[in-house]
Amino acid sequence: MSNLISKGKVKVKAPSNIAWVKYWGKRGLQLPMNPSISMTLSHCHTITDVLFELDPSSSSKSQTNLEFFFHGEKKENFLPKIKDFIARVENLYPFSKSLKNLTIHSENSFPHSSGIASSASAFCALAFAFENIQAKLEGASKGETKLNIERASEAARLGSGSACRSIEGGFNMWGSLNDDRGSDQHAIALKEVHPIFKSAKNAILIVSSKEKSVGSSAGHSLMQGHPYEGARIQQANKHCADTLKHLAQGNIWELGKIIENEAMSLHALMMTSDPSFILMEPETIKMIQKLREFRKRENVPVFFTLDAGPNPHILYLEQDKEIVENTLLPELVKECEGGKVIMDEVGEGSQLVESHFE
Ligand code: PMV
Repeated sequence: MSNLISKGKVKVKAPSNIAWVKYWGKRGLQLPMNPSISMTLSHCHTITDVLFELDPSSSSKSQTNLEFFFHGEKKENFLPKIKDFIARVENLYPFSKSLKNLTIHSENSFPHSSGIASSASAFCALAFAFENIQAKLEGASKGETKLNIERASEAARLGSGSACRSIEGGFNMWGSLNDDRGSDQHAIALKEVHPIFKSAKNAILIVSSKEKSVGSSAGHSLMQGHPYEGARIQQANKHCADTLKHLAQGNIWELGKIIENEAMSLHALMMTSDPSFILMEPETIKMIQKLREFRKRENVPVFFTLDAGPNPHILYLEQDKEIVENTLLPELVKECEGGKVIMDEVGEGSQLVESHFE
């Protein structure tokens, strides 16, 4: 490693993502029980500033003074998760062993209580900042910085599984399929995507902004020994293989069927686990029914997905933007908490905003 650099500042922007085929259940160190495919979002993102100082004298592991600020406010309760992340990525990012001071400032573009999981963009941002630091140190003597995108995705995964699908834009798959495509270690950006999906829209309807009643770690662990564990792994494999095909060919109707089935399967798995969780609210069901009636009546390919929460994500294409946004969404927004909706669409991957090294 270079000792040409002793401190610096890296500011990055990382997007959130919404899974079309869901990751639910993990094994080992943040490895997925099943493969998943997601769409990277554009407007829901995290901006993270990392200020670091290395201990030049240390040959063994340094004690790091760590501080974390969220929207300018010092937050102690996030420190254990960040410390775990740093310990997990030390083989990928050796500089992290000689960190003397580390100050992190983070901000989300979406409100904290909007019911949108922030761990994907938050850990992706942190991993991408670490990747930029490591790449700078490795290339310092040659005066070049070459990012290792797979390594960044792997590091993001070690923070929060779904975060590994936010390093790159567009559509990403994480997890290996039965036929060996993909990898459990990191996500891959999908190259064969039909043009109709490149501007896909995602409106997030906020039914409730309350904290989730089951955290994702607890939820993942409920899949171990779940009566439907084996069937779920098979189903997700098939859904991923079919999604790859439909994404490439532009089969929106076939793809939509899979997306809705995935949302329902995720919630069915939660409802049938021990303990059982119902995360949908009555308004969630009402919205799903209204959407399906609209789709049948108008013959417009508009579909929903759900995360581990009650808020439907409405997915549609640019070509149907007008009818969906003028006719369907106003009907659905009536069921939202305070009329809250976040309009989003397919986005780019993580980006370096600015950096400074000394
Ligand atoms: O990354 P985690 O551990 O928060 O898990 C995310 C799980 C789901 O959001 C429900 C599905 C997914 O694939 O993103």
